[in-house]
Amino acid sequence: METADLIWQNGDLVPWDEAQTHVLSHGLHYGSGVFEGIRCYETERGPAIFRHRDHLDRLAKSAELYYMELPYTSEQIAAATKELIRRNGLRSCYIRPLAYRGYGNLGLYATDAPIDLVIAAFPWGAYLGEEGQKHGIRAKVSSWRRIGPGGLIPHAKASGQYLNSILAKTESQKAGYEEALLLDERGFVCEGSGENIFLVRDGQIVTPPHVASILDGINRKSVIQIARDLGYTVVERDVARAELYLAEEVFLTGTAAELVPVREIDDHALGEPGEVTRHLQAKFFDVLHGRAEEYLEWLDFVEVSAKADRPSKVSS
Ligand SMILES: Cc1ncc(COP(=O)(O)O)c(C=O)c1O
Repeated sequence: METADLIWQNGDLVPWDEAQTHVLSHGLHYGSGVFEGIRCYETERGPAIFRHRDHLDRLAKSAELYYMELPYTSEQIAAATKELIRRNGLRSCYIRPLAYRGYGNLGLYATDAPIDLVIAAFPWGAYLGEEGQKHGIRAKVSSWRRIGPGGLIPHAKASGQYLNSILAKTESQKAGYEEALLLDERGFVCEGSGENIFLVRDGQIVTPPHVASILDGINRKSVIQIARDLGYTVVERDVARAELYLAEEVFLTGTAAELVPVREIDDHALGEPGEVTRHLQAKFFDVLHGRAEEYLEWLDFVEVSAKADRPSKVSS
């Protein structure tokens, strides 16, 4: 991975290689952590964090769902993130805040273990590749079902829950595909291993609803709004597996992947990205990069001085 100079750890900016944790940290053993994936884009007005507040609200909600009291407010985390971006001299980056139960109690009822909070900001390109973004990716319906509300909390973005995504993603990669599509416990289409899914059928844009165990994706929400503003009909409803093969177009949305067309599913060809996908993708990228006035409120600008470029490494 590409690195940066500094990581924010429990209130301090520390050199990247020195951001360490104790091996008996609770989160390391049980996945008791919550996190976010956020992106900051270069715009004409400087670096801008996309829907920063929405991501931090989701972080706070994920923490609450797992009975974790975050040691910092969303305002403090937002300010720390901006400071980190400035100090790392980044113009665009991926941002990863993570709160986890730290060292102090290895029992399962460990509400007295400290909550550690770290924020990393570093360069990360297109998660599913530049080619994938242009021409679409190949995806496979996973044999693993997405975690359901009977055992875990699909609405939370919690570290341990990602073992489910890892199983699905690994299976798809080993079978020669770029991404996995998971069905929910009921057998309806849910989402990708790290993205929400949209289909275009008979001119309508369709996406699985909240009862299908999806993560309430921030890019999903954004694309639904952009599509409606552009005049498309967007319907949130259950999607049968076979509809994936019958769809005119399929695309995925997520912070890491952004908006990626799907060109093949389970060896059924969908072809090059269709008209609706291309239209939405172009508009979405304009929004992310601050080129769409009407969505500027979604951008949280990071004030940087004109001269602020990469600082020299901080010595330990
Ligand atoms: C399992 C899962 N679903 C969906 C998404 C898309 O969510 P968002 O658009 O908020 O990044 C993500 C990424 O965060 C994810 O990990």
